[in-house]
Amino acid sequence: MSPNHWYPAAFSHEVKRKQLIDVTFMGDSFAVYRGEDGVARSVENRCPHRQIKLSHGTVEGCNVVCIYHGWTFEPGGKLVGFKHDKFGKKLPVLNVQAYPVRERYGIIWFFPGDPELAALTPLVEIPHSDDWASVRFAFTWAAHHSMLIDNLCNLSHLWVHGSWVPYGPTVLADSSAEKDKLTLSWEHELRRDFMHPFTKRVFRRDASSNLSDTFMIYDYPYQSALSNQRIRSTNFMLPIDETHTRVFTYQLWKPPKGVPKAVFQRLVMPALKPIAREIFRQDGFTVEEEQKSWFIHGHRPIPEPNPMVKRFNELTVRKWDEYLEFKRTGTLTDAQMAEQVRVKVL
Ligand code: FES
Ligand SMILES: [Fe+2]
Repeated sequence: MSPNHWYPAAFSHEVKRKQLIDVTFMGDSFAVYRGEDGVARSVENRCPHRQIKLSHGTVEGCNVVCIYHGWTFEPGGKLVGFKHDKFGKKLPVLNVQAYPVRERYGIIWFFPGDPELAALTPLVEIPHSDDWASVRFAFTWAAHHSMLIDNLCNLSHLWVHGSWVPYGPTVLADSSAEKDKLTLSWEHELRRDFMHPFTKRVFRRDASSNLSDTFMIYDYPYQSALSNQRIRSTNFMLPIDETHTRVFTYQLWKPPKGVPKAVFQRLVMPALKPIAREIFRQDGFTVEEEQKSWFIHGHRPIPEPNPMVKRFNELTVRKWDEYLEFKRTGTLTDAQMAEQVRVKVL
C-alpha cells in the first residue's frame, strides 16, 4: 500500500508514556514512542551508530535513547547527546528520519511516506465517534492486504460466519466506483431462527419488512461497513510485508433511543466485543488459508462472479503504481492531488 497515507501504528492505550514500540510498514521498521509529555512520535527504527533498533532503547523527556551506547535523538531525529565520553571530539551531525504522527479515535496514526504530503493529507473522518458506543481490537494475519480488502468488502463470504451473523440471502443491490472510492450496498433477508426476535430489533430496516442493509466503503486505503444505519465497523490496515497485515478495527454502535451512551458502553459493549472478535477470527482463518493456498496454486485463474472484486484489486494496484511514479518524479498529477487532500468519510 502507498506509504503516502495515515496508517494505524497502535491503539493509544498500547503506548504508554516513556514506552517505545516497533512498528513495521511494508518491511520498514519504525520506532513509535510516547514522550514524558504524553505526545506520540515516530522515528526511523535504526540507530546510525551500529544500526540497531531504537525501539530497544528508552525515552528521556521527549528524546529517544539508544540501548547500546546511549546516543540520544530529539523528536526531529537530530543526535543531541551520548551516554559516554566524546574522546575530545564534537558531537557528530547525525539525524534519523522523523515521521509525522497524530492521535485520534484512540489510535496512533503515522505517515510513513513523504512528510510534505502528510501536511496536506487529512486524517480520516469517522461519523458519530463521539456519540456512539465503541469497541476496538486488532488482529495480525498472515495474508496480503488485498485479500483482507476482498474479505471485508465482499459479503459473498457470509457463509463462513454461519449463525454468527443474522443474515440469510444477501444481494449486491448497488455499487459505485469514483476515483479512489468504491461503495457497495448489500441487502439482506434476516434469518428466521431462534435469534430472530432479537436480531430483527437491531437489524431490520423497518417494521414492515424483514430486510436489512450493509453499506460498504473502500476509500483507499481504508474500509468501513455501516449496518442498518446503526453499527459502523471501520477497518484500517497496516501492511507489514507482502504476506502479513495487521487490521485495526474500530466499531461504533448507536445506542437505542433513550439509552445513554455511557450506559450502553458499560453494559452492552463488553458482551458484543467477543462476538465481533469471533467473527473477525473466522475472517482471519480464511484469509490466512487463502494466502497459504496462493503459494501453492497462485498461478491458477480465480473465477469471481462479484464484479466489484476486480475493482478492489484494480484500485489497490493503481494506487501502488501511482506511488511508484511519485517516488520517481516527486510529483502528483492534479487529479491525484485532489484525492490526496480529500477528506475521507467512512
Ligand atoms: S548502537 Fe546506538 S548508541 Fe551505539
Ligand atoms: Fe467476514
